[in-house]
Amino acid sequence: MNVLSAMAGITDGEFCKKFTKQNVDMITLGGYNTDMESFKAGLENSVDNRREFLTCPHHLSVEVSEQVELIKEYNPSWNGLINVNLRGTKPDSFKLLKDNKDIDILEINAHCRQTATVNAGAGQALLQNTDLLSEILEEVSQHSNYDLCVKIRANVDNVDTLKIIELIESYNVKYLHVDATNPGVMEADYDILNKITSSTNMHVIGNNSVTCHEDYLKMKNTGVDSVSVARAAMDGDVTHIFNEN
Ligand SMILES: Cc1cc2nc3c(=O)[nH]c(=O)nc-3n(C[C@H](O)[C@H](O)[C@H](O)COP(=O)(O)O)c2cc1C
Repeated sequence: MNVLSAMAGITDGEFCKKFTKQNVDMITLGGYNTDMESFKAGLENSVDNRREFLTCPHHLSVEVSEQVELIKEYNPSWNGLINVNLRGTKPDSFKLLKDNKDIDILEINAHCRQTATVNAGAGQALLQNTDLLSEILEEVSQHSNYDLCVKIRANVDNVDTLKIIELIESYNVKYLHVDATNPGVMEADYDILNKITSSTNMHVIGNNSVTCHEDYLKMKNTGVDSVSVARAAMDGDVTHIFNEN
């Protein structure tokens, strides 16, 4: 599948809807904050013009449904999947969309590395707190309205990525979304993706620095099932990435 990755404050329904006509099969809304801790962290993160972290957790389910409606109204014939990326600090926080029937996938954000978010215990901090990650996975495994995805970042200090993946796979998680960031290098860590795809049966979505069809093919060659893009979508056109010219 071709996937649009989360960009908080950018990937709302209005921004995303055009990609339904650009060969995109999965759209990620959010990431959204789900509790006071992640919301406060968002306020702190927003200081350096990162206003995308400011989403209020109140009425999140209604807000998400409105965004989905915008997309479906724009292109009623689109049969793709709606994924929603959530930041939270405790299992209960991830209950907010439990009764929402408009989304296909709930994506646990174990990825954001902004200092305030990590200090609050959300995002990438979940990779270093496997007890909490397990409790969250225990909670969301009981949700029946959608499939589950976990978004992780590769090459995080003191984190054994393959071990974390083993833990995630021991729950009812269908999709593993991997930002294969390669610190200090301008392209994705294809080696780690190779290792991940040969060690898991989850559907792997590869991510990081895909900006053209060549990058897309290179990432596909690692064995990932799907490829996602974020920053390359900012100019509103991803057809050159997912389509052969
Ligand atoms: C402005 C911006 C906001 C982002 N917000 C989120 C987010 O809320 N949740 C998340 O999991 N990733 C978020 N990301 C990360 C992207 O989804 C993606 O993993 C990262 O940018 C690498 O992919 P790319 O090279 O295709 O941009 C954000 C990225 C950008 C540029």
